[in-house]
Amino acid sequence: MNSKAIITSALPYANGEIHLGHVASTYLPADVTTRFLKLNGVEAYYVCASDDFGTPILIQSEKEGKTPSEYVAYWNKRDYEDFKAFGIDFDFFYKTSSDENIKFVQDVFKKLNDAGHIYEQEIIQFYCNNDKKFLPDRYVKGICPYCNAEDQYSDLCESCGRVPEEITDPKCSICGQTPTKEKTMHYFFKLKNFADSLYKWLDESEHLQKDVKKYVQNWIKSGLIDWDITRDITWGVPIPLDNAKNKVFYGWFDNHLAYISTALKFLNDKGIDGKAFWNSADIYHFIGKDIVYHHYLFLPAMRLGINSEYKLPDYIPTRGHLTLQSKKISKSRNWYIGLKQFLNYYPADYLRYYLVAINPYSQDDLNFDWDDFTTRINSELIGNLGNFVNRALGFTKKAFNGVIPKTTTFDEKDKEAEEKISGLSSEIGDLMNSNHLDRALKKVMEFSSFFNQYFQHKEPWKNGPGTENCVYLAVNAARSIAIAVYPFIPESSQKIWTQLGFSDNVNDHKWDEMSELAIPAGHMLGEASPLFSKVEATDIERYKKQLGPQ
Ligand code: 2FM
Ligand code: ZN
Repeated sequence: MNSKAIITSALPYANGEIHLGHVASTYLPADVTTRFLKLNGVEAYYVCASDDFGTPILIQSEKEGKTPSEYVAYWNKRDYEDFKAFGIDFDFFYKTSSDENIKFVQDVFKKLNDAGHIYEQEIIQFYCNNDKKFLPDRYVKGICPYCNAEDQYSDLCESCGRVPEEITDPKCSICGQTPTKEKTMHYFFKLKNFADSLYKWLDESEHLQKDVKKYVQNWIKSGLIDWDITRDITWGVPIPLDNAKNKVFYGWFDNHLAYISTALKFLNDKGIDGKAFWNSADIYHFIGKDIVYHHYLFLPAMRLGINSEYKLPDYIPTRGHLTLQSKKISKSRNWYIGLKQFLNYYPADYLRYYLVAINPYSQDDLNFDWDDFTTRINSELIGNLGNFVNRALGFTKKAFNGVIPKTTTFDEKDKEAEEKISGLSSEIGDLMNSNHLDRALKKVMEFSSFFNQYFQHKEPWKNGPGTENCVYLAVNAARSIAIAVYPFIPESSQKIWTQLGFSDNVNDHKWDEMSELAIPAGHMLGEASPLFSKVEATDIERYKKQLGPQ
């Protein structure tokens, strides 16, 4: 394991609230991974920023009678607060509209330009005579020329994931009229120049998901197209050339550079050489599958274009989309649950547990289902884990005044329990290291389930021989669980830790310590109380009704 890491997750557009769909595929897996790396002693930093530029944001700010800066400042703050309430523990949350990012983006452009990777070309751009606007990207909808999917934005087909060269049957997405075409001078990034080097980079990368790699390589084989990186609007990073007045960079030219500029700002402010750190760290970019094209082609090509002055990502964990009650999330149809809203219903850890448990390391879509949520929280988190911890600590309180007794010779069952504890950190750690967070969590639950059975089998309440061993091992297993669940459900982890009678923080400890029998005889437990309370079906029925209509 590299001793340094920088973790990022897709930057949220500063134009709306964070909902469950956002956190499931990117922010939560990234947060869990960062917490895991930190417990392993890795100097890991999780940085993020709001994605502030682009036409949709400009238009929306105008609608609300705000300046774009005021508008994005609001969402930057609100998103950060919501993330924080959910336990997403960024080391630094900044913005793509920062002075540092603007300067960084302009510098990168100059280097790409000097290296011959940029060219100018007059293009014909859609223009709406009704709205009196050029219509970039999302402002034109039509049919995807590759897969024939209807109602697709001109900058990305959500059905096949490709960027259409020219959308078929275009319509203005503001007013629905067929746009006309006007001439305008644009700058292009020669993505085609990088076909071979991108292919090779993908081939040689050790940690990128195989299935994603394969289809990205197929895209390369079928021919890349150069990227138009210009927009005829006023809100964006200005293009640093005299003849490019009133033009800004396309949002996807600047936003991923904020991964780097944000990390540099944070590290340099801490007195660390940001560039040296970046280049010696493992770089993780967590994303959802809708932005594969941008992260596996555009982003690495731009880094290659400046001679890999900043290294390319080692990991781009890519996950599927969340559906809600088996239907596509849609804000306009009110078919979504805001993160803030959810946290009014249940503690963050309930959602963290559920969203990790249902989320494989793959591009398969995952589904939030209220009934499944109820079952899994009640039977797994509460019925298994909560029950075991409460049982072990509660019994010790009752039968031994909360003091861990001296052990006697271990029998076969005790030895098996001891082995479970000693093998836990590497068993789960291997899965975490390979990004299988859901499987790792499942292992913790199996461990807890084993100890529930062990406790049941030993029947310590009968106070027969071996009772002391059972209490000693069960309490130590609860300690192992506290450490193991820290990346997933940090608040509950700390609660268990405090109930175990420790006054420090669970994350002051190391991952491998979960496999030690570190609670000795004579140790005094803290106060035991139930960790969770049941999810009630009547509440769930109410929450279901708040969705829709469909
Ligand atoms: O798709 C999105 O939501 C974009 N805002 C993600 C940007 S990630 C980038 F910065 F690489
Ligand atoms: Zn129009």
